[in-house]
Amino acid sequence: MKENNMNSKIIISPSILSADFCNLEKDILKVKKAGAQWLHIDVMDGHFVPNITIGVPVVKSIRSVTDLVLDVHLMIENPEKYIEPFVNAGADVLTVHYEATKNKTLEVIQKIKSCGVMAGLSIKPNTSPVEIEKYIKFADLILVMTVEPGFGGQKFIKECADKLEFIKSKQTPEQYLQVDGGINSETSHYCIDKGANNLVAGSFIFNNNDVDKAIKSLLNKHT
Ligand code: DX5
Ligand code: ZN
Repeated sequence: MKENNMNSKIIISPSILSADFCNLEKDILKVKKAGAQWLHIDVMDGHFVPNITIGVPVVKSIRSVTDLVLDVHLMIENPEKYIEPFVNAGADVLTVHYEATKNKTLEVIQKIKSCGVMAGLSIKPNTSPVEIEKYIKFADLILVMTVEPGFGGQKFIKECADKLEFIKSKQTPEQYLQVDGGINSETSHYCIDKGANNLVAGSFIFNNNDVDKAIKSLLNKHT
């Protein structure tokens, strides 16, 4: 089988939501060995989304065992209250939801940046990219959700990925354009073609017996 379209500039950020929490360090080492540069950590509060996951102490523990970029996705209300605790725990990227920062979006982005970490802004499936247009130049990363946030293992919503082109056209090459939700070896290429340069994948990576092959298939199209 021939590999083409080597996407060496694409970042893979495996979402630990689908990892084995009893053997988290082992799973982190596995994805690092397979070429992941970032690690995606989903924080849910039971309010902004119906689910509850992990918080600051877990980020701190993960920081102590890895040098991967810790990409913390805050699916929480009032994210501005938790910026400093997550930065002190070792987060490198803090992504907040536009829908949770209404009327204070720019202040939240600036607060994250003033703490010395990268600031991400995310939109849910029903939010138009036009709504965040004026914030794109201030954020280091824009995250386009391709499922309704809250759970791993959901089906990719193609129409959401179609927002990528608009956002890409407003970004500079140094900025990250991330997608999250239902990313697998087919949907990843759809998103890359639309301009994504940063892919989050949970179940596709961690539920795969061959993590190495799974990560490579997100990057390389096979012919
Ligand atoms: C969903 C989370 C995702 C989730 C992705 O709310 O933000 O990061 O882990 O899981 P998959 O890749 O299984 O869709
Ligand atoms: Zn996520």
